[in-house]
Amino acid sequence: MDATTCLRTKRDSRQYADRPIAEETLRHILQAGRMAGSSKNTQPWRFVVLRDPDRKAELAACGNFAQHVPAAPLVIAVVLTPGGGDFDAGRAAQNMMLAAWAEGVTSCPVAMHDRECAARVLGLPPEHRVPIVLSFGYPASEDSLHRGIARTPLLELVHEERW
Ligand SMILES: Cc1cc2nc3c(=O)[nH]c(=O)nc-3n(C[C@H](O)[C@H](O)[C@H](O)COP(=O)(O)O)c2cc1C
Repeated sequence: MDATTCLRTKRDSRQYADRPIAEETLRHILQAGRMAGSSKNTQPWRFVVLRDPDRKAELAACGNFAQHVPAAPLVIAVVLTPGGGDFDAGRAAQNMMLAAWAEGVTSCPVAMHDRECAARVLGLPPEHRVPIVLSFGYPASEDSLHRGIARTPLLELVHEERW
């Protein structure tokens, strides 16, 4: 899949096939996160890979809208080291989701509403936090890749020179 098609067709989906994700694909996903740019090149992210069903369920309980997480074959928690910014985490997260989609793996970002819960489940060192968790899997079906609500037209988003 070329880069333009990949980013134009990537939508977030929450229903996954019962098919594991190969180690090689996982490595491509993690490498894509690693290669993201960051403020002052601080690279303030760490990635916790979860595949254990009990651990995934425990982590899912830390979010208000994470019911689909336990059934995802692969979950990656994006962790920020002390002082790391959410924008940096977002860049790494989107890189990983696009790299996955390029190989046919769909995904969804998931918020951890109870941050202390997420830090405890993941055993994080002090001052580390979890800005976002990513669930990954092959699509359950073509229908599960719903195209959702259309994106806002560019005409409504873009201003020339001044607002
Ligand atoms: C910061 C952030 C937090 C999100 N948290 C959740 C979540 O907790 N649970 C969930 O199911 N989706 C979550 N999403 C996914 C959004 O619902 C999704 O990006 C949006 O609905 C667009 O979906 P689409 O790409 O399918 O159109 C989150 C997305 C972002 C960017």
